[in-house]
Amino acid sequence: MKHLELLHEGKSKQIYACDKPNCIVVRFKDDATAFYNIKRAKIENKGEMNCSISSMVLDYLNRNGVATHFVERLGSNDQLCRKVETIALEVIVRNVIAGSMAKRLGLEEGIVPENTIFDICLHSELLGDPLINDHHAVALGIATYEELATIYELSAKINSLLVALYKQAGITLVDFKIEFGRDADGRITLVDELTPDTCRLWDTATGERLDKDRFRRDLGRVRETYEEVAKRLSNVLNK
Ligand code: TMP
Repeated sequence: MKHLELLHEGKSKQIYACDKPNCIVVRFKDDATAFYNIKRAKIENKGEMNCSISSMVLDYLNRNGVATHFVERLGSNDQLCRKVETIALEVIVRNVIAGSMAKRLGLEEGIVPENTIFDICLHSELLGDPLINDHHAVALGIATYEELATIYELSAKINSLLVALYKQAGITLVDFKIEFGRDADGRITLVDELTPDTCRLWDTATGERLDKDRFRRDLGRVRETYEEVAKRLSNVLNK
């Protein structure tokens, strides 16, 4: 696969054009940032581990009836993905209260609500991805109410599939962030990544953090943690 020009460089990934029609190459970097670039570091091997983890997870979702942009893993840090029109939303799904929701509402981390919680944020780095609601999204022309209904339905399905997958790996899926796009037929498609950068993963037996909170909160053993998640998922999926 020939990589052509760099189309976009984000904080943790690069997007390249490629010679396969309607496809892009996603390259995972070792760079880590938190709190919108206030904290930065390189975590050795993170790019390869995240490429491995996101490839396994997106392939699992594809096989379970969720349309994603993932086509195949090309090499240690690269994925071949379908090119879709991105939707400027970040959808956050929460099974356990943690992070910004705990802080904003003055709640203890670890509370398990009876319902699944869905947040939507405007994807705008400049504004710090502010929390919005459906009416804002429609007013801003980001998505229609019908598309939002599909997005919530898909997010719930993805959550059920991922909770079941991580359970087999001894991991509680606390929360995660996903993004969507529209394919050529207007079908809502999962894009971006699903990795310990974008999910909170707690060891079910010990409560140990197995995600980017190790970096955000200076908990140590960041590299080893990403390697551990990749190993556990591989053991579950390649049984
Ligand atoms: P939050 O608690 O900071 O709102 O984060 C909820 C989840 O979303 C957590 O798993 C981390 C993920 N997330 C991202 O992937 N990117 C982001 O920019 C933010 C703020 C959160």
